[in-house]
Amino acid sequence: MEKGLFITLEGGEGAGKSTCIPLVEEQIRRAGHDVMLTREPGGTELAERIRELLLTPGDTKIHDDTELLLMFAARAQHINEKILPALQQGIFVLCDRFTDATYAYQGGGRGIAKERIAQLEQWVQGDLRPDLTLLFDIPVETGLARANNRSEPDRFEQEEAAFFDRVRSAYLAAANAEPQRFRVIDASQPLDAVTAQLSGAISAFLEQ
Ligand code: TMP
Repeated sequence: MEKGLFITLEGGEGAGKSTCIPLVEEQIRRAGHDVMLTREPGGTELAERIRELLLTPGDTKIHDDTELLLMFAARAQHINEKILPALQQGIFVLCDRFTDATYAYQGGGRGIAKERIAQLEQWVQGDLRPDLTLLFDIPVETGLARANNRSEPDRFEQEEAAFFDRVRSAYLAAANAEPQRFRVIDASQPLDAVTAQLSGAISAFLEQ
């Protein structure tokens, strides 16, 4: 049986990923594929518990290395329990954030060396990499205004704008470095223009 394809969605806060994910899922289904929708950090019971630890604001300052290792601990569980079995059964996996978020947030945002992240990536993922990554790009101010309107800020949303500037630059640098895998979506546009960009990117990818 042919393996499923692995598609990830990335972007800063308030870029509109969550609104658009069901549309992407529907388009892939209409093209005749089974799809599993999931997210990181999380996606399995244990990994969702790790997500709680990572996102809930608290009194303990989480050390940057601890944060990085928890991201990869959650990812190891998610990959082995859910992502690989689905891909092996020919199911497409649509994942809301994956390791590009680690390079952007823990690498760009926190300043952890790329090489250190790359070692964990190799260890935890072996040769598993996304086949397509849709990067929702939006100016930091616009994104934060949208995200803060929504709900109480989580531990990451409490960071200052300079942190998110570094996150955005790291994402765009990654997209530049791997143009064959990334499609950058201009998420500052109105929703119908964003969905048109997405739909074009998905059709082109499925027709390859
Ligand atoms: P969200 O998926 O609801 O946006 O929340 C996940 C948060 O976790 C978001 O602020 C980005 C952050 N994150 C990292 O810092 N590193 C990672 O590897 C992942 C997957 C997410």
